[in-house]
Amino acid sequence: MSRILLGLVMLGCTVAVEDVHACDDPITRLVNEKPGERCSGRVEVRHGHQWGTVCQRGWDPEDAAVVCRELDCGFVLDIPGGARFGRAGGEVLWRNVKCSGDEFALDLCERFLNDDVCTHSEDAGVECTGGEAVHFKCTAPYWQSIIDFHLYKRGVDTPLVTQRADPRQMTVDLTLSDLEISHQGSYSCLYSIHNKLGNSPSGYSPHSNFINITVLEIHTPQIWYNTSPEARPGWVTRGHSFNVTCSTQPQYPGASFQLRLIKPNGTVRHSLPALTPSVTFTFSNAQSNNEGYYCCLYKVQTGERNFISRESQPLPISIREVDPVMSPVVISLLVSGLTFVLATCAILIVAKVYCNRVSKPTELERESRTCVDNTYIALTVK
Ligand SMILES: *[C@@H]1O[C@H](CO)[C@@H](O)[C@H](O)[C@H]1NC(C)=O
Ligand SMILES: *[C@@H]1O[C@H](CO)[C@@H](O)[C@H](O)[C@H]1NC(C)=O
Repeated sequence: MSRILLGLVMLGCTVAVEDVHACDDPITRLVNEKPGERCSGRVEVRHGHQWGTVCQRGWDPEDAAVVCRELDCGFVLDIPGGARFGRAGGEVLWRNVKCSGDEFALDLCERFLNDDVCTHSEDAGVECTGGEAVHFKCTAPYWQSIIDFHLYKRGVDTPLVTQRADPRQMTVDLTLSDLEISHQGSYSCLYSIHNKLGNSPSGYSPHSNFINITVLEIHTPQIWYNTSPEARPGWVTRGHSFNVTCSTQPQYPGASFQLRLIKPNGTVRHSLPALTPSVTFTFSNAQSNNEGYYCCLYKVQTGERNFISRESQPLPISIREVDPVMSPVVISLLVSGLTFVLATCAILIVAKVYCNRVSKPTELERESRTCVDNTYIALTVK
């Protein structure tokens, strides 16, 4: 009876701890005075209920890329000063942001709090390309009177995109947006010439060269761990071995799994090639420096671009001392020997200590916030 109650109290405690780093609300946004431009603007970060800006000092394309990725806005086009997007009202909160480029969110990057030297005239900004899209440039060899450009996918008879050129325009941008796996294939364009009225086409050019588009479907990886069976959930005994496994589907050639360990004093990264859908990182001798939150991410490197999944849920691991006297059998005997009242008191104390130990400093909570499980589609041009 008492042991069941202990289990329940522990469960309540674990749930409370998980709530601490759930991320319901966004923590990064782009602010732009032009309505409808979601993917460019002044970078703003949230601290509690307050939004503030980021100092431009130390702001580089790698940092900006993390913002574009976090907001599902594609890639960096430019990093203009934030003052270009209008003056901010709040405080300048961060300076010297340093992202490695693998982060899925800006608040996972290293940075300093602002020391009051930066002003709003130095706010960081970014222009991202917008959601994932492919832009095909189609060029006619010489100027024709009125022409339409058409984008074809090999094997499909009707054009996917048709666009009329402006007078004297010889090149148009044919855009394929909201990419899906079904968009993978070979593409070419051609143009049609119209008579003076511009109604029915009077002739078609031959097809251009073909361009192959590969679409990758990258899911958030799963994470779990194994250790000696006698250890309590979430705990590993000091000196014992434990394995952390990352897993995802589908698989792509040249991919790797990265395992990030987030500790109060920094982040440790491990990487292994993703030769199978699940890859195990083995830690043969658990020590206190193995303690923290573990996250997996899946990375596909192609010639031109890197594709990175969202991070898995953070997996907390604590290292526990070997305690020869307090074997599970002894604990069980002790617990069943106590009276109900005594047990309740002890349980409350245990639960409190456990909670205090697991809800680590706010630094850790910030770093290990859970990200929404999501799928995103990326593409590469071959
Ligand atoms: C494009 O894909 C087709 C078939 O899918 C293949 O035959 C062709 O070699 C590819 N071209 C390039 C440039 O990769
Ligand atoms: C960890 O993985 C290795 C090899 O994959 C295996 O031999 C070992 O038993 C595993 N350890 C645990 C604690 O599961």
